[in-house]
Amino acid sequence: MRTLEWIDTPDGGLVRMVDQTRLPNETIMLDCADLGTLAEAIRKLRIRGAPAIGCAAAQGIALVASRSRAESVPGLVAELQAARDVLAATRPTAVNLFWALERMMARAEALLAAGVERKAFVQALLQEAVAITEDDLERCRRIGKHGAELIPEGANILTHCNAGALATAGYGTALGVIRAAHDAGKRVHVWVDETRPLLQGARLTAWELQQEGIPCTLITDNMAGYLMQQGKVDCVVVGADRIAANGDAANKIGTYAVAVLAHHHSLPFYVAAPFSTVDLALASGQDIPIEERDHDEVALLAHLATQPACPAGVSIYNPAFDPTPSDLIAAIVTEVGVIRPPYRETLAAAAPRG
Ligand code: MRU
Repeated sequence: MRTLEWIDTPDGGLVRMVDQTRLPNETIMLDCADLGTLAEAIRKLRIRGAPAIGCAAAQGIALVASRSRAESVPGLVAELQAARDVLAATRPTAVNLFWALERMMARAEALLAAGVERKAFVQALLQEAVAITEDDLERCRRIGKHGAELIPEGANILTHCNAGALATAGYGTALGVIRAAHDAGKRVHVWVDETRPLLQGARLTAWELQQEGIPCTLITDNMAGYLMQQGKVDCVVVGADRIAANGDAANKIGTYAVAVLAHHHSLPFYVAAPFSTVDLALASGQDIPIEERDHDEVALLAHLATQPACPAGVSIYNPAFDPTPSDLIAAIVTEVGVIRPPYRETLAAAAPRG
């Protein structure tokens, strides 16, 4: 399954994506033919998950280039810089967004410096955006292959949020590991945290696993400890939105609590993510910007109710992510292999150059 794809049109192109806010009840494709629609799609989680946000942002830059009326390449680059700022302001935590924007802008600047003519400039930027997307698919496949070796035969795996095909270009990080273990013939069963407040686990992970025929059971977030206490969980695999230089990993709110529980029960807690999620410029998870989202996501039991589930005016706090300290992480599964502590050294050594 492709989470998003570029479609050529007579007037430039558009970015087609599955509207994830409508899943699992409806599979609706959303066509983004302008920057505003694409930025709104990222902000409203129509497309979400760190690698998928990066791919969408890259295609957003290509979209603006393909539809620009600017006559000169310098004029076009100025438009792209403005578009970059709009996209960078959509969501703060997933570093893949900034990584992809930087890669696109670096390509644009290099093409400008090389004096490439307008048509070739637009074409080259589109190729770069498509390459970022294809590259993500390939990285996730490699993550899956490396991670599958960590999964024991017959494992009960707990996952939080959705780090599946929908969260990436199309294979998944944490779910990529699970999918690869399943495809390798291992019998696995997945405990799916529903993932309050927006239910990415219940709506998206359960749906993906069901489509793949991978046995899974949906639980509410507050059930994980009880299952671990009963010996019903063998390991935890989650994705990440940003991994600091010391291995601290920010992921969907609630991940830290799962990691603490896993540690208490001596269960391996694995983070699966491509290097586009690693931010070596940040010393620790405490430096990772944590997005705060609309209070209605908490108050309205999103997707389910229109009646508030709390008294009007009650104070609400809605952080979307939390950082898990690296001492709770048994290994980080990347496209270049399984990385173990001490992460400050091992992550830097494994990071692809350039
Ligand atoms: O708010 P979301 O749905 O974008 O949060 C997504 C997550 O936290 C994922 O676990 C993370 O991005 C990893 S995706 C492979």
